[in-house]
Amino acid sequence: MGVKELEKNPSQHNGTLIKGSNSVKSSHKKQAYIESYGCQMNFADSEVVASILAADGYEITEQLHDASLVLVNTCSIREKAEQTVRKRLEYFKSIKKEQSQMTVGVLGCMAERLKHQFLEEEKIVDLVVGPDAYKDLPHLLQEVAQEREAVNVLLSKEETYGDIAPIRLNSNGVSAFVSITRGCDNMCTFCVVPFTRGRERSRDPKSILEEVRDLAEKGYKEITLLGQNVDSYLWYGGGLKKDFSKASPLQQKTAIHFDKLLALVAEAHPKIRIRFSTSNPQDMSLEVLQVMKRFDNICNYIHLPVQSGSNAILKKMNRQHTREEYMVLIDNIKKLLPDCGISHDMIAGFPTETEKDHQDTLALMDYVEYDFGFMFAYSERPGTLAARKIEDDIPEAVKKRRLKEIIEKQQEHSLKRTKAFLGKTVCVLIEKESKRSSSYWSGRTIQNTVTVFPKKEYKVGEFVDVKITDCTSATLLGEAVGISKSV
Ligand code: SAH
Ligand code: F3S
Repeated sequence: MGVKELEKNPSQHNGTLIKGSNSVKSSHKKQAYIESYGCQMNFADSEVVASILAADGYEITEQLHDASLVLVNTCSIREKAEQTVRKRLEYFKSIKKEQSQMTVGVLGCMAERLKHQFLEEEKIVDLVVGPDAYKDLPHLLQEVAQEREAVNVLLSKEETYGDIAPIRLNSNGVSAFVSITRGCDNMCTFCVVPFTRGRERSRDPKSILEEVRDLAEKGYKEITLLGQNVDSYLWYGGGLKKDFSKASPLQQKTAIHFDKLLALVAEAHPKIRIRFSTSNPQDMSLEVLQVMKRFDNICNYIHLPVQSGSNAILKKMNRQHTREEYMVLIDNIKKLLPDCGISHDMIAGFPTETEKDHQDTLALMDYVEYDFGFMFAYSERPGTLAARKIEDDIPEAVKKRRLKEIIEKQQEHSLKRTKAFLGKTVCVLIEKESKRSSSYWSGRTIQNTVTVFPKKEYKVGEFVDVKITDCTSATLLGEAVGISKSV
């Protein structure tokens, strides 16, 4: 996992078919097929959608051709992500020609961004549902059946789907995501998320702990707490941050911040690995780092997007921290958690970015020496502050060249970081068969570095000690030496 380019972010997956792994097919039930694009939050949302559909009498199928309902959970983060979805919709159009009874729905960020326009532009789409309106799906499907317009893109200040038990899709039975916040209040000027996912709100900790307990009972071994900005998690009886000032003094005093939530989850399940994503530099507190240090089962890995190493650009991006503040945070991480894996998101060619700004980014990367990163060329998104106020003035060729330099720098650092594992024995959670060879397992270290090794007698879901013998910039290679005592 050395360098993850373009669409391959923990928050920016490639489009992947979500399979209904535990769906038993019985011909009398209506069949729904869900495809998901974009961030982990979209993948987690599709599991909520599957649960809502199941309660409405649907079964989730892996076979597109069996489905009477086809849903695409979409991403708007960059233009390319939207183009991918449009191509898929074209494909569904061709299928619909043969199967006219098929309903096609668009969910998620593109639905929210394009709203009614979708029904007009994309004649193929029957249903448009934004990220906060999934509970309305049964009603909207009735509207489709009555040949009425079926659009719900209302954003909510309360909806967290905390009362819905997601149906795990495409699951290895080992790792699962649990949403803890929705939306984002940060308003980075390049980003469409605050417009497509609405205000930031936190989910009731009780429902989070219940979901984790349920996963633990089902044998899951790794939980990732998810949100656009997990460090700003806040529960005081309500979950809307901007209303916190109206909370009673007692509520304010007993409020649960992210460090507390993390400790509650980790304490309740010492044999389960806990991860979280994504952290925002301005909100990540020392308390969170201390909780990470206190609990062995919280993985020493932090995804800490910075976007740019230049103060001038950070300011134009409306990021709420300076380069120097970010460096202090990195120093604190390295001091408190010396073996911590750190990754980043970086944008090349934000409007007005000079060569000097770009050099500042490369120099910041040299300072941190990230384990890996997710690197993107700036893509102007309609409606964002940057699109409205700042001209996209960096030529494509310059963006590409700067991106290439950032990626090359990351490759160098990734290799340095993986080489540091050589000769060491590390704990790996076995997740699946290696893509390269059916006689190898693949899992990750606590730092989130992918590790492959011969299967021997070990099984998926086991924590094993692996002696590292070789590496690439992306992957560690080793030999399992026994079941691990740690997680
Ligand atoms: N806080 C979120 C960020 C979501 S967007 C999270 O959970 O990760 C993921 C990444 O996409 C951002 O960190 C940023 O690096 C990139 N990105 C967002 N908008 C972009 C744009 N307009 N052009 C290029 N990259 C963008
Ligand atoms: Fe987007 Fe910035 Fe929020 S990148 S998701 S507005 S933290």
